[in-house]
Amino acid sequence: MYSAMGALGLAPVPQAHARAFRPPRRGDFTSIGRRNGKKVIVLGAGIAGLAAAYELGKAGYACRVLEAKNRPGGRNWTVRGGTTETDLDGRTQTADFAPGQYMNAGPGRIPQSHVTLEYCRELGVPLEAFVNQNANAYIFHENSAALAGQPVRWRTAKADVYGYVSELLAKATDQGALDQTLTTTDKERLLELLKDFGDLKGRDDAWAYTGSSRRGYSVEPGAALEAGTVLAPPPSLSDVIASGLGLRFSFEFDYQQAMMMFQPVGGMDAIPKALAAAIGSDRIEYGARAAAVLNHSDGASVTWVNAQGRTVTERADYVVAAIPPMVMARLKHNLGSGVTDALLSPQPWEAGKIGLEYRSRWWETDDRIYGGVTPTDNDLGTIWYPSYGYHGDRGLVIGYYHALEPAAVYGRLPHAERERRAVAEGVKIHGAKYRSELASSFSVAWHRTPFIEGGWAGWESQTGVAYQTLNRPAGNVYFAGDWLSNTIAWQHGAFTSARKVVTEIHSRTLAR
Ligand code: PHE
Repeated sequence: MYSAMGALGLAPVPQAHARAFRPPRRGDFTSIGRRNGKKVIVLGAGIAGLAAAYELGKAGYACRVLEAKNRPGGRNWTVRGGTTETDLDGRTQTADFAPGQYMNAGPGRIPQSHVTLEYCRELGVPLEAFVNQNANAYIFHENSAALAGQPVRWRTAKADVYGYVSELLAKATDQGALDQTLTTTDKERLLELLKDFGDLKGRDDAWAYTGSSRRGYSVEPGAALEAGTVLAPPPSLSDVIASGLGLRFSFEFDYQQAMMMFQPVGGMDAIPKALAAAIGSDRIEYGARAAAVLNHSDGASVTWVNAQGRTVTERADYVVAAIPPMVMARLKHNLGSGVTDALLSPQPWEAGKIGLEYRSRWWETDDRIYGGVTPTDNDLGTIWYPSYGYHGDRGLVIGYYHALEPAAVYGRLPHAERERRAVAEGVKIHGAKYRSELASSFSVAWHRTPFIEGGWAGWESQTGVAYQTLNRPAGNVYFAGDWLSNTIAWQHGAFTSARKVVTEIHSRTLAR
């Protein structure tokens, strides 16, 4: 899990296996001459809980969703001007962003393969491109053995790394080092490929990489005789390797992170809002803090404290627990110590983001960066430029998005300190405007956020007893969430887990 930390401050997950899903339908009951009188209580109005209630609702299940917060979405949370939140350390922030400016504090990017997009289509949530890879964004390494402290454009780093690696392989090939492996024809074809791939000189120049316009220009090509000035010279082969820049490119190859990626227009919370509207506001209770879940021979019951502070108990045929496992583990329940142990087995990850609102879009005007991500090797993790509002008079940059240790360090600081530190780091990349143009900011440390308590939760094993236990119902109580999927930390995981539970509940109901 730690291997990809260098790339993102995060980690990769195995590819999802989305099975064909057939939503429950009212006709499923009429065709067998029955009516659906089943009641389901769903704990949590995050993506998994909302998706479960939405899909079950299609076949007439009477769902009631209990949500401790006063909004739907869980970690799918868009912060706008006026958004206020108090963390587990009792520190309150209120966002002061201008109208139209927003920060996706949780999920921010959706790959083309994810079922999340199917829900956007079905619910009419409009999408726009999310720029996850931008050749003009930087890579910033300040702790590397060479080129430290110099922001390098992604395109420049790529030209140099591809160039030198191609040169080395071309030389080795031409000098006969691969004669055991390659035929004469293979070698000629490989050399042709490498010359193109690395933008190399030819055989007469010993396949040298000497830089090219792929690196970018110090003077852009223009009219008449202005041919432009190519950025030159490239650093030495040794420095390019020592810089570690080449270790960043695997991010683009990652199954989940490759372009194209998408975001809902106006904020990621358009998804939970659309789901909540489809479920019906009368079926979702906010400010409802679950206290107990009991399984009974003929159903299950939930006890919660409602927004007025009253304790309420209700029975249902099924309960879907779609809340974080470590939070669920603390509820009073009669599901057995095996369930408690299993719930405590996935470990929450620290994760944090800061939104920096600027009075000007200097990254567009000065740096020619229109969306995209700059990875760093310091504790910022990544900086994200906005994929909306191009050429507007303000804009909002994600000043850090990181996980584990850096997120734990930042999470301990009060907000003003987080801002001060994040800005000081950013100034090293973007200069004084990174401080002078700042208008306001808002930060989230997910592991210190009430009822959520983690950016996501990771398993030691997803084939072990704990994982298997929670992927089965405990009597009439089911568990759902991205943490029970093979795409942890993606909405896709929450949706697919909810679909699985919905399918199980529905087939069990129909079989009765
Ligand atoms: N889905 C999150 C993101 O894209 C977290 C994550 C990162 C999950 C990398 C897996 C791999 O940032």
